[in-house]
Amino acid sequence: MNVLVTGGAGYIGSHTVVELINARHQVIVVDDLSNARIDVLDRIEEICGRRPEFYQMDCADKNRLQQVFIHHRIDAVIHFAGFKAVGESVKKPLAYYRNNLDSTMTLLEVMEEFGCRKLVFSSSATVYGPDNPHPYKESMPAVCSASPYGWTKVMIERILKDYATAHPNFCAVLLRYFNPIGAHVSGLLGDDPNGIPNNLMPYIGRVAGGKLERLTIFGGDYPTPDGTCQRDYLHVVDLAIGHLKALEYAESNHGAEAINLGTGKGTSVLELVYAFQKVSGIQVPYVIGPRREGDLPAFWADAEKAKRLLGWEAMYTVEDMCRSTWNFVRKNK
Ligand code: WQD
Repeated sequence: MNVLVTGGAGYIGSHTVVELINARHQVIVVDDLSNARIDVLDRIEEICGRRPEFYQMDCADKNRLQQVFIHHRIDAVIHFAGFKAVGESVKKPLAYYRNNLDSTMTLLEVMEEFGCRKLVFSSSATVYGPDNPHPYKESMPAVCSASPYGWTKVMIERILKDYATAHPNFCAVLLRYFNPIGAHVSGLLGDDPNGIPNNLMPYIGRVAGGKLERLTIFGGDYPTPDGTCQRDYLHVVDLAIGHLKALEYAESNHGAEAINLGTGKGTSVLELVYAFQKVSGIQVPYVIGPRREGDLPAFWADAEKAKRLLGWEAMYTVEDMCRSTWNFVRKNK
């Protein structure tokens, strides 16, 4: 298929582009490079031997997006493009609502204009909010979030559900990611955010790589076995493969379907630090600091629906995730 990948130069997007090319799809990437680097395309080509078509653009730019659909017969879209920093969204809510919602609605309008009826959307476990018991199931209310970033995911899921109701031939798969970490086995792709990382694993990588002095663990007094928060970490390559499975599902189904992509297991911050130290042989100095506003003690996925509907389940272990992260850090000092 000809697959348009918005945000395809980003962390999850680039790993998904690799798996799409390896599966012999034709890939067209649009990305404004606001949170990605152009050399990711060279690295994708080095891994796959083929380079996706690339347009540097804002996918809320309707005229330019129409040009992409005119030049390429797009069969399906995977929509990653969007602002995604939780803390930043609290400071800049309007920018997040404008960017994330506009880009999605513009995309839907252009898809409709060109008869493209399959969409895989990058949603997030954050839509489950603070009140659902874990493991989170797709049948639970996913109607609130702790940040404007999370609210954009709730609202976009609503838009896609209503759009699918109004267009019976349309299929949207809403993939609710848990905590993607790790890197491509080549060490050419990985999570390398600009500035100081907000997320745990890239922060650990910077400490191990000597770029940051030590990790501050946000809270050691949670009601969990070791006092630190538990999350469902999944390998970014498992996540990427989940998108290909979602495309296959969208080929022969209609409607909007929310599906968790997680391992179904919780790992604590300390367990992740220990696993990283074990596979890398590198000490990760840390201190236990105060809790971070908005953090939940523990949550992980009920992963049954992805296995049932997509035939997908996470295959990589936490140690694999740590090993691939360290490999990426070492090769990109
Ligand atoms: C994980 C754990 C922190 C950094 C976020 C977004 C979510 C999704 C994934 C986009 C928490 C602790 C972290 C540090 C720490 N993003 N931590 N020291 O918060 O579960 O999820 O990223 O979809 O929407 O909310 O991930 O990696 O930020 O934190 O102790 O320097 O690590 O307190 O318990 P989180 P995270």
